[in-house]
Amino acid sequence: MEICLGSSCFSRGNRDVVQYIKEYLKKNHLDDKVVFKGARCLGHCSNGPNLIINSKVIEGVSLDMAEKILAEYLSDIK
Ligand code: FES
Repeated sequence: MEICLGSSCFSRGNRDVVQYIKEYLKKNHLDDKVVFKGARCLGHCSNGPNLIINSKVIEGVSLDMAEKILAEYLSDIK
């Protein structure tokens, strides 16, 4: 999983989402099973903030959506 930390995505919400995801992974004991890293600008800032899970780009991510996205994509990892 990668989170765009380019300046547009970062300032439009990923600054908080990155913290949220780190805490979520820790809380759910997934931090040793999921590789989570920052990415440079993905080139489609206007659709951001962007997140990549399993090579799929998820656009328009917000803090409110983050839990739902993680639950959906990480549900088969235990
Ligand atoms: S800053 Fe995220 S796509 Fe450009």
